[in-house]
Amino acid sequence: MKTQDIHTTFQSCQWDDLTVEQQTLVERAKQMTFQSYCPYSHFNVGAAALLADGTIVTGSNQENAAYPSGLCAERTTLFAANANHPDTPVKTLAIACRTRGSFTQRPGSPCGSCRQVMIETEHRYRLPMEVILYGEQEIYIFRAAADLLPFGFFSEDLQA
Ligand code: THU
Repeated sequence: MKTQDIHTTFQSCQWDDLTVEQQTLVERAKQMTFQSYCPYSHFNVGAAALLADGTIVTGSNQENAAYPSGLCAERTTLFAANANHPDTPVKTLAIACRTRGSFTQRPGSPCGSCRQVMIETEHRYRLPMEVILYGEQEIYIFRAAADLLPFGFFSEDLQA
């Protein structure tokens, strides 16, 4: 039996460490928290995707009285980007969370289903998708979505 390790790398930084392009994207994600529909959780999540041609596609979490029918901000955003711009890779995805009137101090951590959708987007376009998780005190930057999901499930895994 062999023990194996998976190592993941991310950067932890402050607002001033971000490029203007990154700051613009995070601002859009923050703004989108105000358009979230979350009457059940009162947890507002906003996301913004920067496409390779400079287009920004945004989204927010959309809840439903039938709880599982709702969708997270990340998937709302990536599905909209992929549906409307199927030939354009997503370069960067920024995410921000707000609750009880304030943005979270720490970055919100995307759920497993959103991570799986992120890696499919990345894999589909064969381009690393940077992920920026915003927190008031600290911001995390992942070079690629796959760094957020070791052992993700890929199309190759459907083969025998
Ligand atoms: N949520 C997101 O939008 N993204 C995540 O990665 C985690 C959770 C939403 C789903 C639900 O509307 C609310 O936050 C509370 O779970």
